[in-house]
Amino acid sequence: MKEKLEVIKAAAMEAISSAIDEKGIEELRVKYLGKKGELTAILKQMGSLSPEERPKMGQLVNEAKSVVEEAIGNKADQLKAKATELKLKAETIDITMPPKVNKVGKLHPLNTVLNDMIDIFQSMGFDVLDGPEVETDHYNFECLNVPADHPARDMQDTFYLGENLLLRTQTSAAQIRTMETRKPPIRVICPGRVFRADEVDATHSPVFHQIEGLVVDKGVTMCDLKGVLEQFAHEIYGKDTNVKFRPSFFPFTEPSVEVDVTCSECGGKGCRVCKGSGWIEILGAGMVHPNVLRSCGIDPEEYSGFAFGIGLDRLTTTRYKISDIRHLFENDKRFLEQF
Ligand code: PHE
Repeated sequence: MKEKLEVIKAAAMEAISSAIDEKGIEELRVKYLGKKGELTAILKQMGSLSPEERPKMGQLVNEAKSVVEEAIGNKADQLKAKATELKLKAETIDITMPPKVNKVGKLHPLNTVLNDMIDIFQSMGFDVLDGPEVETDHYNFECLNVPADHPARDMQDTFYLGENLLLRTQTSAAQIRTMETRKPPIRVICPGRVFRADEVDATHSPVFHQIEGLVVDKGVTMCDLKGVLEQFAHEIYGKDTNVKFRPSFFPFTEPSVEVDVTCSECGGKGCRVCKGSGWIEILGAGMVHPNVLRSCGIDPEEYSGFAFGIGLDRLTTTRYKISDIRHLFENDKRFLEQF
């Protein structure tokens, strides 16, 4: 029995030292020390020994049990520490790594100014409409009193997409589209991108933006036009800004005006921005031509109206003192982040 005990003990110690994980150790604990374990089984065989041998053997078995128990305990501790170490290593956080920063975008300055303009006109009761950037010759020119051979077409050369389609040169086509679908009283603005075959420089771009406005009702006069546009200029540039109406010509308005405001750069003294004049031109406008009303099925004897086209890019560059219109379209983040 003594030899058997030695064999079991040696096998147990061997198995314990080569165990590789906590589960394996647990199995060994059951195998040797459990209720039906091998060392427990030996204790149960003690009945066959003589009364003198029994205490000696009991002591030996108990010693073996405590040696095995201690070995299992040590090994379990070791394996547990190793597992923790591995887990920590796997979860290491590198605190020197730069964090991911969520960058929040901003509105483009053109959109900031456009939103302000929309607020101003909405507060005066205007609706906001949209129009197509690819227009027909009919809407962009014909209906606006600019027939095929009209000299005004020269100033608005554009990109043609086939016989009758073109990139719109002005948002004025929206006047026609509006009058075809709405009946007076009409009060709308239509902001959008327009295109012209212009030479690129600090103040010209082949792509720019306009805000068209149209009012048609009974008894609308030039006074209403002046009142609305003056109010608009004062809200955008401040109450002290002077507004000047100059006679001009557009084929689809009669009479026509161009509107200047005090140069915001020099306050009217004359500088590089206003080319010494003290004034900045911001829009064209006029009373809707009777031919245009008639072509949209509106009787010019009964109704009258005014229209205007504001240059959004000019408004934006003067407001933010941007020296070159090209900055607005280059999408350079160093520029855009300043607004
Ligand atoms: N469409 C004209 C332009 O682009 C501006 C304008 C709009 C003039 C409405 C009068 C009325 O120059």
